[in-house]
This record gives sequence, structure tokens and C-alpha cells, in this order.
Amino acid sequence: MDWSIHHVNIPAIDVRKTAAFLADIVGLPRGTWDYPPAEQMGKVGHDDDHIALFGTENRGIHVVKPIPTFARDNGFIHNPTVGGHFAITVPDIQAVMRRLDEAGIVYSDAGVYAMKGVHQIYVYDPSMNVIEINQIVA
Ligand SMILES: [Fe+2]
Repeated sequence: MDWSIHHVNIPAIDVRKTAAFLADIVGLPRGTWDYPPAEQMGKVGHDDDHIALFGTENRGIHVVKPIPTFARDNGFIHNPTVGGHFAITVPDIQAVMRRLDEAGIVYSDAGVYAMKGVHQIYVYDPSMNVIEINQIVA
């Protein structure tokens, strides 16, 4: 299998509460977010009230507080902070984008903007769920 689930994004009204539940009740160790260099950084709005990571190398579970302006802030069509999403890592994101283009399906090409060495795009599946597709590029 040349693809994998990279992370699951869980929306949380209270990130600290959900993070405490996952850490203290479920027993998951907290992770540390790996950011890209400043010149690649998007407007992610990260702080302890907006993001918690469980996993390593940004893989695992992302607990996220919805940011209503996130799509506008970053020039996206999709807002990945609202409603949650899962992220699929593929070996060739350019091939996926070509197929999306050919099918006339709009997507937000975020490039590397939130996670070190990860090229991310967002798209709606046919049921209007936001899906993230990414490729490890470094
Ligand atoms: Fe994501």
C-alpha cells in the first residue's frame, strides 16, 4: 500500500478539554507540532486554545478549534478547521491534482504552509466532506 492516513482532524469547542480527555483518560502522549520555515508559514492561528497534537511528525490526531476566517486568511476555498477532516498521504500529489483538474473538481492547493515538509491540498468529496490529501516533500 503506497498511501496512508496521515492524521484525523477533530474539531473542538474547547481544545484544552478535549486534549485533556485524550491525554488523561484515553492515555495518549501529547506531541509537538513541527512547523515549516517562516517563509512557508500560512496563517494557521496556532496556540494552546486552537491546536493540540497527539502523535509524532504531525501524524496522528489534530484537535482543532474552528476558525471561521481560516479559508479567507490563507486564500483557500475550503476551511479545514470546520467540521473536521481526515488526511491521506499519497506518493504523487501532482497526479491527484491533475485528475482533479480533469474532473473539474475545485481544490485548495495550500502548498507547504502548516506542517514541515508536507504539501497539502483540500477538496470536497462527493458528500461535501473536506478531505485533505498530502505528500511528504522533505
Ligand atoms: Fe489536516
